[in-house]
Amino acid sequence: MSRLVVVGVQWGDEGKGKMTDYLAQNADVVVRYQGGNNAGHTIKFDGQKFALQSIPSGIFNPHIKNVMANGMVINPKAALGELDGLAERGIKNYQLFISDRAAVIMPYHMMLDGAYENLKGGKLIGTTKKGIGPAYCDKYSRIGIRMGDLLEPEYFAERLKDALVQKNMELAMLGLETMDFDTLYNEYIAYGERLRPYICDTSVLLNQEVEKDSKILFEGAQGVMLCIEHGTYPFVTSSSPTAASVPLNTGIAPRFIDHALGICKAYTTRVGEGPFPTELHDDLAHYIRERGNEYGTVTKRPRRVGYLDAVALRHACRVSGINYLSLMLFDVLSGVETLKICNRYMLNGEEIDYVPGTLSLYEKCEPVYVEMPGWKEELDNVTDFEQLPQTAKDYVAKIEELTNTKVVVVSVGPDRTQTIMRENIF
Ligand code: IMP
Repeated sequence: MSRLVVVGVQWGDEGKGKMTDYLAQNADVVVRYQGGNNAGHTIKFDGQKFALQSIPSGIFNPHIKNVMANGMVINPKAALGELDGLAERGIKNYQLFISDRAAVIMPYHMMLDGAYENLKGGKLIGTTKKGIGPAYCDKYSRIGIRMGDLLEPEYFAERLKDALVQKNMELAMLGLETMDFDTLYNEYIAYGERLRPYICDTSVLLNQEVEKDSKILFEGAQGVMLCIEHGTYPFVTSSSPTAASVPLNTGIAPRFIDHALGICKAYTTRVGEGPFPTELHDDLAHYIRERGNEYGTVTKRPRRVGYLDAVALRHACRVSGINYLSLMLFDVLSGVETLKICNRYMLNGEEIDYVPGTLSLYEKCEPVYVEMPGWKEELDNVTDFEQLPQTAKDYVAKIEELTNTKVVVVSVGPDRTQTIMRENIF
């Protein structure tokens, strides 16, 4: 298999960074295809910890071509900050390619992200305030700035002037300070100059790699339940992490996508607002949060925690064409006496087997669980699936049965070495 998409199948933070890093050891190319620096991909190896936000996870390996594709929204200042941070830690030898068509996150997008949230009163989305939504809005309103624009001074001036007419009007209406053209122009032209060596037509590069039959790993950010199309709208992000979005967001044909690996926690978490039928509010939530260090990589917010939700998982696997699952943070569940998996929702007195399309209905869904005994043993040193306690193996088998998808990886710790590979898929 040469082209594999790695997709979060819950509400993000499933451990995609670890799996992408693990699989990247065999990859020629790693591609981020949507989202921006709202993502937080944590990677641990050789006793070191890195938290990447917009830079692809293959950056640590000098042989890998890392692509930030056209479907991303890129904050040039933040991306340069990430590269500077990596350089300070000795990561200087890498191959990076940034699409000239990727949207630029401008300072006004961040200001508007915060301001729009405040306008919602009690109905916050709970965004990361990185300007993601407003940047995608401008892209679709056709007043966005793209990475390639930063390399052409006259054209960029024109684009920025046009955008500022609207943006300054919005800022003023919201009682915020308007933005000065010259200051913004000079700052962003300078970022463009620093990023010039990396900016190119990445779809040309990717199609060349496809022709060579290179191993390409597509690194999704967030998760399918946060997808703008198939997630719990409006409590979603503004892009689609599904495998279906890869061709559009990278410029390669759908027929070149071979497989999709769904990344899934052994339980569920969610950051920000929105429905979460299996959410726990008791001591068990606290136990899992502390053992799993369930605090946002980007925002440090405590994550909401709950049981595994097979209804949501089946939905995510279906709409994203997932054919393998990777079960993350499995070790966290040691010591939980009874494990529950939600397999149906109860809605208005009826059992249903799907995720309702409207929030008002989804909010009313109560979980219907199957229960299983847990295990006491710590699993962080287990390297072979057969060494797992029988109840842990049964839990994995149940997930396979309920999702009709094979679990090929069980992760028992943050390090690359703490990965039980049941089948080599890449
Ligand atoms: P935005 O992407 O900043 O617009 O935020 C929209 C929603 O997606 C919020 O609920 C965020 O908490 C959530 N979100 C965005 N990025 C991530 C992520 O990488 N992990 C988990 N949640 C995320």
